[in-house]
Amino acid sequence: MSIDEIIYRMLSARIFKNREKLRPDYVPEYLPHREAEINKLAEILAPAVRGVRPSNVFIYGLPGTGKTAVTKYVLRKIETYARNYSQDVKLKVAYINCRNENTSYRVLFNLCNYLNERVPFTGLSTAELFRRFIGALDKEKNLLFVVLDEVDFLVKVSGDDVLYKLTRINPDLHNAKVSIIGITNDLKFVEYLDPRVKSTLGEEELVFRPYTTEELADILADRAKQAFYEGVLDEAVIPLCATLAAREHGDARRALDLLRVAGEIAEREGSPKVLEDHARKAYREIEKDRAVEVIRSMPIHTKLITIAAYLVRRRKSEATTGEIYETYRSLCKKLMIDELTQRRVSDIINELDMLGIVNAKVVSKGRYGRTKIVNLAISEKALVEGLKNDLRLSTLILADSI
Ligand SMILES: Nc1ncnc2c1ncn2[C@@H]1O[C@H](COP(=O)(O)OP(=O)(O)OP(=O)(O)O)[C@@H](O)[C@H]1O
Ligand SMILES: [Mg+2]
Repeated sequence: MSIDEIIYRMLSARIFKNREKLRPDYVPEYLPHREAEINKLAEILAPAVRGVRPSNVFIYGLPGTGKTAVTKYVLRKIETYARNYSQDVKLKVAYINCRNENTSYRVLFNLCNYLNERVPFTGLSTAELFRRFIGALDKEKNLLFVVLDEVDFLVKVSGDDVLYKLTRINPDLHNAKVSIIGITNDLKFVEYLDPRVKSTLGEEELVFRPYTTEELADILADRAKQAFYEGVLDEAVIPLCATLAAREHGDARRALDLLRVAGEIAEREGSPKVLEDHARKAYREIEKDRAVEVIRSMPIHTKLITIAAYLVRRRKSEATTGEIYETYRSLCKKLMIDELTQRRVSDIINELDMLGIVNAKVVSKGRYGRTKIVNLAISEKALVEGLKNDLRLSTLILADSI
């Protein structure tokens, strides 16, 4: 295909009316199947429109269950009402995504910025930053919502010091008030949180459950109407995207990504319609990217075990955990690092199974008892791509005998 053809195809494509409506950070006007959560959160936060401080809220649930969208949606409404009805108290919303702002300093720096308090980008102590923040905040009758989205990142990187201070700030304020909304999809994090922080942050708690396949289909149908030209989507596409996105847990982000990528593939191929096959291709593309991401972020031993599983399977048709362990040990020797115990390796293989990187199944071998057979569940391409940044490890795959 020539460049003119590529561009011509794009120009003549009539697939997306408005692609932006499928982007993950777009907050739609209507959030199907979250009425109960929206109402509950609105009930908790509504006192703000009369200048009364709402309880802190802790929101958790698996990825893509609408936590961020619902929170932004409800706060937007509350802000609008407060602007019209609450004369003496100024309502402010500081939304901070802790995936990016993952240190105490950055969080406080952002909070000062919201209040137009100029502070240096680095160099002050966090105690000083905190003083400046309180000073700026307490100048007026402010009611500040601090939304700490993906708050587990902050706590993992910098501990829960800021969280602790922020949840106990109100007694030190004379004019202003603060409500904290913490959001996380890391359910383990909730258990690890300091009980004192957990109890003040979790004055109110909201749990978002995963969507069902049917619910995902409704969500997609609603967004698709805004995003695609009429009649462009084959009727099998939405149910398929919903089913594929519900495989692990009902994740609306995955569902929307699938639909968007399916549309993009159809567009690239110059197809006038988005078909089932485009959705399947989108699934493979997204799965590969996800596997690459998972591999990239794995600790070294987990990477080595994955490589070992791959190498054993390249030699023979079945790989047992014992064989993987032996290969893993020789890889460790080669790299001169200490190996983990067989027990630990076996645990890691189970984790890899849960992540969808390998498939493990126990089979009975007659009088030799039961043994576990392990298969790599991802493509060689994804494995190579995921290890690309680590030269030592990627050469291990290329070497054909260990
Ligand atoms: N009920 C819904 N109706 C329409 N769109 C939705 C709904 N729930 C979620 N979405 C959309 O799905 C995507 C993911 O939702 P959101 O970002 O709120 O998930 P989340 O629970 O915050 O996930 P994470 O834990 O990964 O941050 C967003 O594009 C959002 O607009
Ligand atoms: Mg979110």
